Amino acid sequence: MTIRFVTSNEGKVEEAREYLTEPVEQVDYDYTEIQSDDLAEIAVAGAKEAYEETGGDDPVVVDDSGLFVESLGGFPGPDSAYVEHTVGVERVWKLAKQEENRRAKFRGVIAYYDGERAETFAGAVPGRIVAPRGEGGFGYDPIFEHEGETLAEMSTERKNAISHRGRALAKFADWLAENE
Ligand code: IMP
Repeated sequence: MTIRFVTSNEGKVEEAREYLTEPVEQVDYDYTEIQSDDLAEIAVAGAKEAYEETGGDDPVVVDDSGLFVESLGGFPGPDSAYVEHTVGVERVWKLAKQEENRRAKFRGVIAYYDGERAETFAGAVPGRIVAPRGEGGFGYDPIFEHEGETLAEMSTERKNAISHRGRALAKFADWLAENE
């Protein structure tokens, strides 16, 4: 069995390969992101659509994540990608800067679908929003600080070990090992 990871992000596939013993293949299919404030619902709908539309037997996996700033009512949340590309990360910092409470969370959900079973695995990492620091990573990494370092200042190994996606992948790997 091969796990088909539906994403245009090669980095996510590499990360999945570090956690899973099964082979992981990248599938570049642009699934519909349904309107919802529930990451799991978005990811499951995407996994089902990708499974039906790409026509294969092997299970598919979709990953959906977002940044949730506590004092901004969870903004940008499931709209994180849209906000990153329209408003930009720097201006999300400027919004959060005006708040006393700068606590935030990265949340991620991995959805698995094999034509019959749909399963979801969630991971989260707590932190706070800070002025941009660091050159590594991508997306909101420079403004998200966890235990004194922004995700953009961490080594890839350290980021993967503590990240929302790493935590969700670890749960998924355990489940796969038990359910094969
Ligand atoms: P997606 O899950 O790839 O759709 O990502 C949703 C949004 O969250 C995008 O704006 C990503 O750049 C951002 N994002 C997802 N994972 C991370 C991360 O590990 N660090 C920083 N930003 C992330």
